[in-house]
Amino acid sequence: MENKTRDSWIHLAQDAKRNAYIPYSHFPVGACLVTKDGQTFTGCNIENASFGLTNCAERTAIFKAVSDGAKEFQYLVIVGDTEGPISPCGACRQVVAEFCDQDMPVLLVGKDSEMKETTVSELLPYMFTSKDFND
Ligand code: THU
Repeated sequence: MENKTRDSWIHLAQDAKRNAYIPYSHFPVGACLVTKDGQTFTGCNIENASFGLTNCAERTAIFKAVSDGAKEFQYLVIVGDTEGPISPCGACRQVVAEFCDQDMPVLLVGKDSEMKETTVSELLPYMFTSKDFND
C-alpha cells in the first residue's frame, strides 16, 4: 500500500482519538480499522465510572465494523500519546485475533508519530482461537 494511504489511516485514527471519553485516565487513544475493500472504521476509548467497563479504542473500531457487517480486514492503526509506539492491552489483542488474520499488519503509533508495524500473531503468540475447540 502507498505511504499516502497509510498516512490517511493514521490521520483518521488521530481524529478519532479526539473523541476519546477519558474522564478517569486522561489518556486518549484512537484506532482505524481498514477492510480488505478499503472501508475504514474508527474508534476511541470510552471509559466508565465502573472502570472495568471501559472499551479500548481498537475494540470500539472492531465492534463498529463487525456490527456494520464488515468481516474482512487488511490493516489496523492504533494511536496514543505514548513515548514509543503504543502497546495494546491483552484483551484487545485477543479481540483483534478473533477478527483479523494472523499475518495482518498492525501499526502502533506513539506521540511524535514514533511507530512500529507488527502483526496480529506477533502481538499474541500462541493465541487461543476457535481452532482450539472446533477442529
Ligand atoms: N487503551 C486503549 O484504548 N487502547 C490501548 O491500546 C491501550 C489502552 C485505553 C484504555 C483506557 O481508557 C486508557 O487507555 C488507559 O488504560
